Amino acid sequence: MREIGVGIAGMGFMARMHSRALSRIPNTRVVAAWSKFPHEHERFREFTRKLGLEVSRYYVDLNQFLEDPEIDAVICAIPWKFIYPIAREIIQNGKPVLLECPPGATPAEIDKLNRLARARGAPVMPGHCYRFAPCFRKVKELISKLGRPELVSFRELVPAASLARQWAPDSWIWKKEHGGPLPTMTVFAMDLARWLAESEASTLYASLSLSRLKSLRILGYATTITIRFKNGTVWNSEFTNLVNEARGSLMNLEVMSERYVTRVTSPEHVELFTEKKREWMLELERPERWGHQDQDLHFINDVVSKGKPPAVTLKDAEKAFRLSLAALRSARQNRPVRL
Ligand SMILES: NC(=O)c1ccc[n+]([C@@H]2O[C@H](COP(=O)([O-])OP(=O)(O)OC[C@H]3O[C@@H](n4cnc5c(N)ncnc54)[C@H](O)[C@@H]3O)[C@@H](O)[C@H]2O)c1
Repeated sequence: MREIGVGIAGMGFMARMHSRALSRIPNTRVVAAWSKFPHEHERFREFTRKLGLEVSRYYVDLNQFLEDPEIDAVICAIPWKFIYPIAREIIQNGKPVLLECPPGATPAEIDKLNRLARARGAPVMPGHCYRFAPCFRKVKELISKLGRPELVSFRELVPAASLARQWAPDSWIWKKEHGGPLPTMTVFAMDLARWLAESEASTLYASLSLSRLKSLRILGYATTITIRFKNGTVWNSEFTNLVNEARGSLMNLEVMSERYVTRVTSPEHVELFTEKKREWMLELERPERWGHQDQDLHFINDVVSKGKPPAVTLKDAEKAFRLSLAALRSARQNRPVRL
């Protein structure tokens, strides 16, 4: 198999996450990286060196980066507020690209990228990693055998102190006028909701409290999102960073119907209750836990190498983002939103 050369656009948190995942994919090499901020280059070089990667070329000019002949595919990890013009250039160039999500600042921007990709024949895969997480794939497999769930309950708690290490106080993610962390912290679960329900949302109700955390200088958030899907499945979810670090991060999912209950108590543990109980322990390392590793593997092996269509589309990404935006609207207006 021929080696695939990858170029990474962006040098922040998700660029590091993708580098780690790519470092474990055979016949794949990160050959170049782009950031318009030269001060980021050295830090990224140090990080990738620790992973055993030697990224040969660093660019500040996006066009020069895209013209690099060793780049076969691009991973674009730029915050959603700023991604559109960059994603447009990459798609226009025609190389296969994985775009971090949301892949635009508005659903209309995502739709424009989708139309450009079709016109250009460029393969574009949005990064909706939860669909690739082994625990959620197991749950999806059980649902397809056992039938539609009546209620799905999802919780994701990430201590503020750990998010403050990820994103500095002046980061785009803490800007209240853009909904603060809500779009980024909910959009992946919104995609998971549609994927597990196998239906489209009809109504959504959300509540949100945003507060300023003085000691960490970031926003605290606590939000609930309830969705009724057209097939009758109800999704209920809670997201917060207002949880003590001693408690640690927590993610769980419980899928319920009269016939069965299946639940994820951690990314490594899935249970199924029918007449008897069964459970699966998954042995996973960091980029595998939330699906990043398998997502990037699908992108490289199937989309880039074999020219297969991606398992997630820009249309999916647009719909998931619409749900996160509807949650913001519902919370601000304190009423359910029809979709
Ligand atoms: N899949 C996941 O698990 C996951 C997790 C966190 C974030 N994300 C998504 O990934 C995206 C990137 O998040 P991140 O945490 O890597 O962000 P980040 O703050 O770490 O920044 C990423 C990079 O964006 C670039 N950048 C910032 N502002 C820019 C601008 N105005 N113009 C051009 N480049 C700019 C910088 O080079 C920076 O290194 C977000 O949209 C977020 O929603 C995904």
